[in-house]
Amino acid sequence: MAEGITGVSTSSSTCATLECQDLTKTYYSTDPPTQVLNGIDLTVEAGEFLVVMGASGSGKSTLLYNISGMDRATSGRVFLQGRDLTSLNDTEMSQVRLTQMGFIFQQSYFLGNLNIRDNILLPALKAAPHRRDAAIGRVDALMERFGIVNVKRHGTTEVSGGQLQRASISRALASEPAVLFADEPTGALNSSMSAEVMDALTDVHAGGTTIVMVTHDPACAARGDRVIYLRDGQLIDSRELGTWTADQAAEREDALLAWLRELGF
Ligand SMILES: Nc1ncnc2c1ncn2[C@@H]1O[C@H](COP(=O)(O)OP(=O)(O)O)[C@@H](O)[C@H]1O
Ligand SMILES: [Mg+2]
Repeated sequence: MAEGITGVSTSSSTCATLECQDLTKTYYSTDPPTQVLNGIDLTVEAGEFLVVMGASGSGKSTLLYNISGMDRATSGRVFLQGRDLTSLNDTEMSQVRLTQMGFIFQQSYFLGNLNIRDNILLPALKAAPHRRDAAIGRVDALMERFGIVNVKRHGTTEVSGGQLQRASISRALASEPAVLFADEPTGALNSSMSAEVMDALTDVHAGGTTIVMVTHDPACAARGDRVIYLRDGQLIDSRELGTWTADQAAEREDALLAWLRELGF
């Protein structure tokens, strides 16, 4: 651990977008307490597309929540671009989430009384209330990029699941986050909509955004640069895939499946 000249501790590799050191999470609400993360060390480089896999209950979502400050780890440290997130209070942490992180979940959690465009716009306005025009410009450009301009005035129940998830991606990117977190973003979609959403995420990655995505779907995981595998809250193996190209999709998925079978997935 390095001490900067300001006396504020910084990450050992400050160029990394995200780093966690010896992260543990125990839920004390159960008897006996449930230790869900058992000492995770992880570095996510700037621009990397990292995929988290593992059996159901292995701690994937918990890891995502704890490295994104949605929840507080029991011990260990998390750094975002060298800044120690574990030392922040709740107000500081929500500001970091709002301005530097984007989130996509299995469900979109859109507000039913707002149309698609206003749902996408809302967090960006909250993040930078004085830069309304800039936010509107970014949101319109994102909707164009992800092919959902035609549904911008639609209600949240008037679009397909794939359109809704592309809207979620637009919302997550509207504040130009340093890192995009996705927890099973295709978990509620059929395979063609799932491919639609993964194309959008592949495009986001190609644009330079760092992505951390949890999935149990090898076809989705094959899009990543690197896949890590969790078992019982421990990072037991990882696999470098290199940059995704469409013509290698089948080979990448096959290689991933063989590796996952070895791990007992
Ligand atoms: N709030 C909680 N209180 C107690 N146990 C929890 C809580 N959240 C998750 N768990 C437990 O932690 C383990 C890992 O959960 P989770 O991270 O959701 O796994 P995954 O996303 O890999 O399916 C599970 O055994 C789950 O029951
Ligand atoms: Mg989960």
